[in-house]
Amino acid sequence: MSKLHLDSICNQVIELTNEVGHFILTEQTKFSNTDIQKKGFNDLVTYVDKNSEKALIEGLAKILPGSGILAEESGETEKKEYTWIIDPLDGTTNFIHKLPCFAISIALVKNNEPILGIVNELNLKECFSAIKGEGANVNGKSIKVSEQSKLENSLIATGFPYNDFKLQDNYMDLFKYLMTCTQGMRRIGSASVDLCYVACGRFEAFYEYGLKPWDVAAGALIVKEAGGKLAEFNSGADYIFGKTIIATNGLIHKDFVLAVDRYFGK
Ligand code: IPD
Ligand code: CA
Ligand code: CA
Repeated sequence: MSKLHLDSICNQVIELTNEVGHFILTEQTKFSNTDIQKKGFNDLVTYVDKNSEKALIEGLAKILPGSGILAEESGETEKKEYTWIIDPLDGTTNFIHKLPCFAISIALVKNNEPILGIVNELNLKECFSAIKGEGANVNGKSIKVSEQSKLENSLIATGFPYNDFKLQDNYMDLFKYLMTCTQGMRRIGSASVDLCYVACGRFEAFYEYGLKPWDVAAGALIVKEAGGKLAEFNSGADYIFGKTIIATNGLIHKDFVLAVDRYFGK
């Protein structure tokens, strides 16, 4: 494949997420409880997730012919040099309960490394985007992580374990510790948005385990391009595919990673 024009691709993907986002918001008003299906314990899906994903896959194939797909609801196509990682609706539980925080999350990866990320949060109409090496934006305006360097002044986001409870005690012990030494804890229900809120300085850090590549691939690039730092629990670097993630503003990174390691260390 010849060199990609990522600026133009980014604008086309944003347009596509605006169209599909309009569908998601319209369907939310018609939606009923009989439309909810269970993929597993506390793992919900609706026709809105599935139809949105179909529309996104069709649109992305036109934007970048020959690319591969890794999508939450329909799985993975054969490996390609460029692959789209798609979460058609990140925050399905919020969507179902009519809580206003959910997003479309799309990353373009080259050999598993994100080079483009878009997280379109549909309620506040904040579309976060980043191209590798070119910084991060919200609605076209440049964003940066916060300049807070003290844990005691930091607001921390997390996601609660909801169906993998093996590490629940470690999780609760870390949570208790962070309650006593930070400015507060939040659980907003959309990992991609949590990451973008670190990127634009609303949170100083976000951590969660049990995540999938489509929850984090786009948001992680946005954090990195906004000046933040990322890690897996236990100091690994595969935070996209490795199922655990720590994202910080960089300034509290060392202290935060130490805290997580204290409770999740091997
Ligand atoms: C979920 C959200 C949530 C996180 C879960 C994810 P979904 O994604 O990102 O914040 O805690 O781990 O699975 O199911 O709404 O796409
Ligand atoms: Ca998700
Ligand atoms: Ca989803």
